[in-house]
Amino acid sequence: MSAKQDFLQVTDLVVEFDGFRALDVKYFAVDRGELRVVVGPNGAGKTTLCDVISGKTRATTGSVVIDDHEVTRWRDSQIAALGVGRKFQTPSVFDGLSVYENMELALPGRRTWWRTLTGRPTWAQQRQILQLLDRVHLRKLARAPARDLSHGQRQWLEIAMLMVSGSRLLLVDEPAAGLTDDETMLTADLLNELKGHHTIIVIEHDMEFVRRLASRVTVLCEGRVLADGPLDMVQADPKVREAYLGRGKERKP
Ligand SMILES: Nc1ncnc2c1ncn2[C@@H]1O[C@H](COP(=O)(O)OP(=O)(O)O)[C@@H](O)[C@H]1O
Ligand SMILES: [Mg+2]
Repeated sequence: MSAKQDFLQVTDLVVEFDGFRALDVKYFAVDRGELRVVVGPNGAGKTTLCDVISGKTRATTGSVVIDDHEVTRWRDSQIAALGVGRKFQTPSVFDGLSVYENMELALPGRRTWWRTLTGRPTWAQQRQILQLLDRVHLRKLARAPARDLSHGQRQWLEIAMLMVSGSRLLLVDEPAAGLTDDETMLTADLLNELKGHHTIIVIEHDMEFVRRLASRVTVLCEGRVLADGPLDMVQADPKVREAYLGRGKERKP
């Protein structure tokens, strides 16, 4: 794999909290347009990895390169400006605004409410918003207040907001948490549609969901990369089985 193809490259990354080594990753790279799934037991360091990539947490040592930029010492706002978007476990949409208005707010350079109230989006932006709402099955609900959305619909709105914001690398932390089975499968299908157009890292526990994504899986355990490859291969890996031992059937990868 050539360095040019990588959109994200993490090398010799160590993150310590008061001497506790939460992350110790020798090498982790994601191709441009790839959808990568990161799994691992609780406390494995999955969220910390996203925190470092997005600049929320500083690396103790090591390096993070995004789109050929060495961003290890960059502020989170600078990394966001490079096109790194984060979707948190709890959707952060504005309840009182409509689905469409939430999308307007997510347009690049419209992050402050007074600018949204004064300037109207261009026709091209309006068309883009409607196209994205189509893709996440929310076009019919464009005028509905976000508070009327189901939990799954809110997740999709947030993913669409990341897309309209121009994010090229999407970090998606446990998107299936709290979703119904149908919503979970639709979310997986949606992320599958987005790959190729965006580079995506998905953290997830739900193995049905991970199977549906049919993507390369990286297993983290105690801060280290334990295995990496297709789901069936990592599931068969004795090291991975041992790491998950005694953690309940639904948690086994
Ligand atoms: N800000 C922090 N301060 C101290 N310890 C932390 C902090 N963030 C995470 N940790 C610890 O680092 C380890 C990895 O956490 P995390 O990345 O949240 O794991 P995961 O998302 O895989 O469940 C855990 O042991 C956690 O307690
Ligand atoms: Mg986590």
